[in-house]
Amino acid sequence: MAYNLLKGKRGIISGALNSSSIAWKVAEKAHEEGATFVLTNAPIAMRMGELNGLAEQTGSQIIAADATSVEDLTNLYIQSQEILGGKIDFVLHSIGMSVNVRKNIPYTETNYDFFQKGIDVSALSFHKMLSVAKKLDAISEWGSVVALTYAAAQRTYSFYNDMADIKAMLESIARSFGYHYGVDKKVRINTVSQSPTKTTAGSGIKGFGDFFDYADAMSPLGNASAEQCADYCITLFSDLTRMVTMQNLYHDGGYSSVGVSAEVLNKYDIKEITE
Ligand SMILES: NC(=O)c1ccc[n+]([C@@H]2O[C@H](COP(=O)([O-])OP(=O)(O)OC[C@H]3O[C@@H](n4cnc5c(N)ncnc54)[C@H](O)[C@@H]3O)[C@@H](O)[C@H]2O)c1
Repeated sequence: MAYNLLKGKRGIISGALNSSSIAWKVAEKAHEEGATFVLTNAPIAMRMGELNGLAEQTGSQIIAADATSVEDLTNLYIQSQEILGGKIDFVLHSIGMSVNVRKNIPYTETNYDFFQKGIDVSALSFHKMLSVAKKLDAISEWGSVVALTYAAAQRTYSFYNDMADIKAMLESIARSFGYHYGVDKKVRINTVSQSPTKTTAGSGIKGFGDFFDYADAMSPLGNASAEQCADYCITLFSDLTRMVTMQNLYHDGGYSSVGVSAEVLNKYDIKEITE
C-alpha cells in the first residue's frame, strides 16, 4: 500500500545491483511513494545491465559514478539536479565492499592495501557524497541522507573482518557530518543498521547462511527483509521524521536488544528455560 510519502521529492539512490539489493527495493518503494530519482552505481556494475530494468520500471535515469571519485560524484549531483529539475531531497548510500572479506583473509593478518580500499569504497565514499553535495549546495533544506550499516560496528562478529571497523567509521561520519550539515542547512543524516539480508554483498561473507538463521532465531520478530528495510528508509526520507538526525537506527526485528533467545538456547537442549 502506498501513502504518497515522497510525493514531489527528488532523490539519488546508489547501490542497486540486482533485484536482491536493498537499494533496488528502496527504488521500487520510492517510486510507489511518488518520488522521482536518479539511480547510480559504479561503472563496472553497469556491465551486468540489470539496472536498466529498474530504470525502466521506475522511469529513472542512470548515472554511472564510482563513489570513491569526487569528480564522478560532482558530475552525479550536477546531472541529477538537471534531470530532476531542482535540488535533491533524499540520498541513499547503499555501498559496501571489502577485498579482505572477498579473499577470505583473516582479520588479524589483514592486507592493508585491501583494508584501505574497503575504507575508501564503503566509508569515505559517504563523506565524499556529503561533502560534494554540501559544496554544490545540492541538497534541499530538511533533506535526508541514509547509509546502510551493520551491528558489527558495535559488537564483534568473528566473520565480519575489516568491515566491522569500516562500518564504525561510516556511522561516525553520519554523526560528524550530520552535525555540520544540520547546523548549516538542516540536512539530516542517519545510518540504518539492517538484519543480515540475502544479497550479493551479504552472501559474500563466509558462513552467511548459518549466521542468517542464527540472527533470525535471536530476533523476536525474525530478520528484517530487504523490502522492510526499504519501507524504513522511505519513512526516513519522508517529512514524518524531520527531527531525526545523527542516529544509528536498528532495523533488525529486535535482535540488537536480545542477549540470547529461548530458540537459540534450545538448540543446546537446555530444558529448564522455556521462554
Ligand atoms: N546484506 C546484508 O546482510 C547487509 C546487512 C546490513 C547492512 N548491509 C549494507 O547494505 C548496503 C547494500 O548492500 P546489499 O546487501 O544490498 O548488497 P549489494 O551487493 O546488492 O550492494 C552493494 C552495492 O555497492 C556497490 N558498489 C561497490 N563498489 C562501489 C563503488 N566504488 N562505487 C559505487 N558503488 C559501489 C555495488 O555495485 C553494489 O550495487 C551495504 O552498505 C551493506 O554493507 C547489508
